Amino acid sequence: MAELQTLNNSDLQEYYSALSYNYKEFQNKNLRLDMSRGKPCTEQLDLSLGLIDCLSSSDYLAADGIDCRNYGGIDGLPEIKKLCAEILEVKPTEIIVDGNSSLTLMHDLVARAILHCLPDSETPWGKLPKIKFLCPSPGYDRHFAICEYFGIEMIRIDYLSDGPDMDQVEKLVAADSAIKGIWCVPKYSNPTGITYSDAIVTRLAKMSTKAPDFRIFWDNAYALHHLTDTPDSLQNILTACQKANHPNRCFIFASTSKISFPGAGIAMLASSETNIAWLKKQMLIQTLGPDKLNQLRHIRFFKNLSGIENHMRRHAAIIKPKFDLVLNILQTQLAVKNLCSWSTPQGGYFINLNTQPGCAKKVVTMAAEAGVVLTSAGATFPYGLDPLDQNIRIAPTLPSLLDLKQAAELLTLCINLISTEEELRKRGL
Ligand SMILES: Cc1ncc(COP(=O)(O)O)c(C=O)c1O
Repeated sequence: MAELQTLNNSDLQEYYSALSYNYKEFQNKNLRLDMSRGKPCTEQLDLSLGLIDCLSSSDYLAADGIDCRNYGGIDGLPEIKKLCAEILEVKPTEIIVDGNSSLTLMHDLVARAILHCLPDSETPWGKLPKIKFLCPSPGYDRHFAICEYFGIEMIRIDYLSDGPDMDQVEKLVAADSAIKGIWCVPKYSNPTGITYSDAIVTRLAKMSTKAPDFRIFWDNAYALHHLTDTPDSLQNILTACQKANHPNRCFIFASTSKISFPGAGIAMLASSETNIAWLKKQMLIQTLGPDKLNQLRHIRFFKNLSGIENHMRRHAAIIKPKFDLVLNILQTQLAVKNLCSWSTPQGGYFINLNTQPGCAKKVVTMAAEAGVVLTSAGATFPYGLDPLDQNIRIAPTLPSLLDLKQAAELLTLCINLISTEEELRKRGL
């Protein structure tokens, strides 16, 4: 179909009536569907059921005889550290394997830097009049929530096709010592799906920052979450920072939340040995050690990196058809030219969709009124403010294929309806 602008008034009105009729039909179905959060579906969770059974009352000793039932091992079992170090492509001395949530590690790290000097800090961040973080957007809403919670001012950075707009980033960090950090989801990014190019990683590692204690919060949540057999590759940020003579610049985070069980997985943090030593000293005040039985369970179940990679192929086999279904519906139902653009992710958990400016909030509200919950419009931007009100994050993994079909059809109908309404309004009709 041609662009809406090319339709004459009566064709446009007729098209609008047909869409409104279809919307009412959807409302009558009383749908109750949720595409708001990137959660694994039941079939994905079932893949890891063996984790629950893989320890027994006679199997609780780690390889070197550590009794996993008892306190100790602040930075994780040696064998889980080795496995997690392989996942993140770092040395076992550069990693801490902790509890069940990488988001907790991120939150606590910000809190620690606010309360105590980081290795390169002259003053704890909390004693400074202002701290700011760079927030490439659209991004992960929970990163922005951490900043808001701690009163950190957020500066929005645009995304280009291969990562954050580095011209903006470099200019800002060179001039302002209050800018202490940047949030990055460098692989199959939430929600854009992009993987940072080598050039972006190198520039982040090399750039001059006015703050000596500037930190990159490298949230590699989707490191192993490929949807194709030709995975994206991501340059190692820790090595890049070391080469650039900024060895303490990055903190890398990941977890098995979307590999084993969200909430019952294991979380990891990698960084320079200096940062790790600083962190371990603080953690010794906070805890007598992580849940080593869960770490042992993960070792027994996955065994090694190739065990995890095989497991991830099984995840992909379940969720790839869901991505394909939504992409196919977007392609066929958003037939009006230039109405929307969307990502075709090669991994991760999201499809990123941009409507015409000014439409996203209305689309999300309208979908909710017909029973489909999407991520709130604006949530992917600092302070919940999408400057163009056009970004919608689609999370296709949780619903069944049948539900997903209905949800995606309703979403595209709402987009068509709102866009047509806008065109009618512009024409004064
Ligand atoms: C980018 C990103 N980081 C972190 C998380 C949460 O990770 P965890 O369960 O380890 O706290 C998510 C969950 O959706 C995510 O998308």
